Amino acid sequence: MARILITSAIPYINGIKHLGNLVGSQLPADLFARYMRGRGHEVMFLCATDEHGTPAELAAAKAGKPVQEYCAEMHKVQADLARGFRLSFDHFGRSSSQRNHRLTQHFAGRLADNGHIAEVSEKQVFSIDDNRFLPDRYITGTCPNCGYEAARGDQCENCTKQLDPTDLINPRSSISGSTNLEVRETKHLYLKQRALKDKLEAWIDSKTDWPVLTTSIAKKWLNDGDGLQDRGITRDLHWGIPVRRGDQPWPGMEGKVFYVWFDAPIEYIACTAEWADANGRHDADWERWWRTDKGAADVTYYQFMGKDNVPFHTLSFPATILGSEEPWKMVDYLKSFNYLNYDGGQFSTSQGRGVFMDQALSILPADYWRWWLLSHAPESSDSEFTWENFQASVNKDLADVLGNFVSRVTKFAQSKFGDTVPAGGDYGPQEHALIADLGARIRDYEACMNAIEVRKAAAELRAIWVAGNEYLQSAAPWTAVKTDPDRAQAIIRLALNLIRVYAILSRPFIPDAAETMMQAMGSSDWTWPDDLPAAMRSLTPGQPFSVPENLFRKITDDERADWQTRFSGVRS
Ligand code: MF3
Ligand code: ZN
Repeated sequence: MARILITSAIPYINGIKHLGNLVGSQLPADLFARYMRGRGHEVMFLCATDEHGTPAELAAAKAGKPVQEYCAEMHKVQADLARGFRLSFDHFGRSSSQRNHRLTQHFAGRLADNGHIAEVSEKQVFSIDDNRFLPDRYITGTCPNCGYEAARGDQCENCTKQLDPTDLINPRSSISGSTNLEVRETKHLYLKQRALKDKLEAWIDSKTDWPVLTTSIAKKWLNDGDGLQDRGITRDLHWGIPVRRGDQPWPGMEGKVFYVWFDAPIEYIACTAEWADANGRHDADWERWWRTDKGAADVTYYQFMGKDNVPFHTLSFPATILGSEEPWKMVDYLKSFNYLNYDGGQFSTSQGRGVFMDQALSILPADYWRWWLLSHAPESSDSEFTWENFQASVNKDLADVLGNFVSRVTKFAQSKFGDTVPAGGDYGPQEHALIADLGARIRDYEACMNAIEVRKAAAELRAIWVAGNEYLQSAAPWTAVKTDPDRAQAIIRLALNLIRVYAILSRPFIPDAAETMMQAMGSSDWTWPDDLPAAMRSLTPGQPFSVPENLFRKITDDERADWQTRFSGVRS
């Protein structure tokens, strides 16, 4: 069996994520992890909170809490929501962990030792009243180009001109509004990415099977004029990983921290060490996933992320790894996603527009959302959430097709033949034809899942559910039972077995419903149906089953209208 390492881009700590964030990384990563486990592979699936940087500091200040406390609380909130959505991480770590501190400092030290770090002196705006340097985008002022009064120090939102904070007229701190600013000299570490360009290019070129979206973004940044700049990896902030050169102090860098985008991807590795610590394992147990000299050579590593994260994962993080000249496992397959829009506009965290993870779970169970989001994943282009579409998919796919099949079969079986799998008759030509058809469809489904073609996989799964319904409709056990009860019993026995197979196949998408179906069939055998004819005889005559609670309910027009209004405005 293969060993599969899976990471999802780690969500920022500040605030609850919306459904667009969820479907862009964590949810499809979970789908894939569950599928790979279902196929019997050894999986390590990791995610964490991305806790450093100015936005986290500001969010903590706004909440009136010390940043450590704020992050600890928000980590728990996000972990609970992840559980609510049934995201099956082996570990949900924190980029502020001691493991990440040490590993980040280690990488910086290695990069310096190998000559990949430059120390650069630069001028930056310091806010005396805030007692801090201000990142460019936290300086507001009047745009010299168009006169817009709320232009940011990095760019004017009104005329889109790229700006330097010193270009602004009447600059002020966006944090406090203070105009008591001065330009100060400060020293920072730069990762000399440009010198690593050839190595990066060769590595990217070797990835011939990557999705077009991933490769096109990577190449654009690699080759476009100022794409591969040397990159500042330190900041003058209080909250972050202190700059050290391995386990040594870094002269001249006292009081500074690493840039959040430097330490965040290193957390993928650190998270695995946190997993080991949390589970009483040894270093060798996490290293076998990450060190090619310690067993990771036969690991296949998949990353999941939104398209805005691709440059960091195809250039910056690989530059860190390559520059370390240590045998760390690098990503084998990078699956990236476009954006999910919300009802004619964009999801927006700052404006609270759209449905956020906590709100979603407060109105419907996870499976409903998982199914819609995954079956509409923004793969080849951006996609859009509308309440009409959500209602239609849930009602049709989940309630009418799958739910109805399970309910019809189990209720009919119970009322005619009692609480056990009926023994009469045997499978005939119609059943053999169905099994052959389903066998082929399952292979198609597997091919889509192996290729992480999420929407296509959902469509294949739906087709598998539909095939069961069509079989039931044409075999018509309710008619057969009147003249040939043995025949009706064979049909029902097949249909009950099919429910169990549906549970196994559907589990990556809708884990709770799958659990309910499996339990109702009185089984706990989740063996993947590689051998479908055998799987269709897994439940044996006389074995007890039960009629499950309604698997899925329909969304009414009133509910839809209500939710549409409730989530149209600003989040309160
Ligand atoms: N927090 C970032 C975001 O939400 C993703 C960080 S991914 C990692 O866009 F590579 F840095 F881990
Ligand atoms: Zn402007």
